[in-house]
Amino acid sequence: MRIAAAMANDEIATDRDGWVDEVEQVEPARFRARYLLPRRPVVVRGALAAWPARHRFTPEFFLEHHADRTVRVRGRPYRLGDIVGQQLRSDAEHPAPYPCTLADCSDLLPDLGPRLACGQPNRHTSPLMPKGVFDLVNHLEIFFGGPGSGFPYLHYDMLHMHTWIAQVYGAKEFTFYEPGQEDLLYVHPQMPWMSRMDDVNDRERWPSLQQARRHSVVLEAGDAAFVPCGVWHITRCINMNITVAFDQLEASNWREFTRDVVAEERRKGHRARAGWLGAYLAALGPLFGVTERFGANRGADWGVPRVH
Ligand SMILES: [Fe+2]
Repeated sequence: MRIAAAMANDEIATDRDGWVDEVEQVEPARFRARYLLPRRPVVVRGALAAWPARHRFTPEFFLEHHADRTVRVRGRPYRLGDIVGQQLRSDAEHPAPYPCTLADCSDLLPDLGPRLACGQPNRHTSPLMPKGVFDLVNHLEIFFGGPGSGFPYLHYDMLHMHTWIAQVYGAKEFTFYEPGQEDLLYVHPQMPWMSRMDDVNDRERWPSLQQARRHSVVLEAGDAAFVPCGVWHITRCINMNITVAFDQLEASNWREFTRDVVAEERRKGHRARAGWLGAYLAALGPLFGVTERFGANRGADWGVPRVH
């Protein structure tokens, strides 16, 4: 349910409880003050109107032109055509496998854009970034989902990346949890970005979750959403849908990103590398801050999708 409210010169609607705004457009300065720095999700309705993918990316397009591409479903490789076929035949009672991701999509990049102004600057494509720090993440992925399927666990995105969601086909529901409720979310002891819940609808096994303040919003085709770093979320596919997700790393999440990179190196037993990486990234952050005032890190590069 949306509650319309006129604020300043923009039409803003919020979810019922008023934490997730839905806007028709948002300028970068306002985005920074109202969403990026306070770390509030926001949905920008119709943000993808000029993206070729908005009309080109359909299940039929991928079946016709990319059926033999390899996608990953929970770490295992599958043929894209087989998975999309399953998803098209599935329903809410019998959902198809999810999440299904295509990471090797460099040939599809011309269909993704123009870049959203609020999604810049973005540091992860800078040549000054050390190799290997992004081994655990893909900067850009295309998700395919059938009706009723959903992300299998509550989480926030790894390495404290901000994430942009571009809903190019179909509809998907996002549920966001307000910050500071980790005591209700059954956080995984070894992987602090994940919950150990395997079914968020199982009230008997996970009763505390019901007390957590959460906000659901449905993205329709053509909408974009900003998911701030550290915000716990889960998704549910309303129907057959295709979603492009891409990261943003900039000044406001740099400190947590650095902390996570160092922790990951320590977890792998690389103490020396953790030390120098921490020092290097701590020095690189202020340097980026200065150069970004003069336009750095605003290139058209999405980052090379990593195939794994
Ligand atoms: Fe996520």
